[in-house]
Amino acid sequence: MSGKAEVYSLEDIASHNNKKSVWILIHGNVYDVTKFLEEHPGGEEVLLEQAGKHATEAFEDIGHSTDARELMKQYKIGELCDEDRQKIKEIQEKNHWPVAGSDESSWRNWLIPIIVAVSASIAYRFYLSYQV
Ligand code: HEM
Repeated sequence: MSGKAEVYSLEDIASHNNKKSVWILIHGNVYDVTKFLEEHPGGEEVLLEQAGKHATEAFEDIGHSTDARELMKQYKIGELCDEDRQKIKEIQEKNHWPVAGSDESSWRNWLIPIIVAVSASIAYRFYLSYQV
């Protein structure tokens, strides 16, 4: 098909989210896999699960072969618009940020249980001291 230059938004892709029309976004490319559902070696369920969505991570997690990557080219119908590419990039950067800054939350992970344990032990001592 000559539709390679088509540009779509996340909203456009999201509306193709059922068996009648299944579009998925992988690495900034839009694929219409409606006709591929039955042929997909991984089954149609997984593709339907990703219908209308950004499926890069799911696709890469499987570790698809180079054959699969070659095959997917024929289902490509276009690309994601620049504005939404930027949006995805920002979301990804935001999601990664807490990982880099996780030092801050890790001390809370042990400090809070210690405070709870110390408070409980003080409360227990008080309780015992009031028992004759
Ligand atoms: C246009 C997109 C896609 C194409 C052309 C495609 C193609 C293939 C092919 C050829 C295989 C056989 C194994 C291989 O050669 O790697 C496969 C397996 C599989 N695919 Fe896809 N796939 C696509 C998208 C997806 C997506 C979005 C998912 C989401 C999770 C997915 C999940 C799987 C699973 C679970 C398997 C089975 C892996 C196994 O049995 O070990 N695929 N796919």
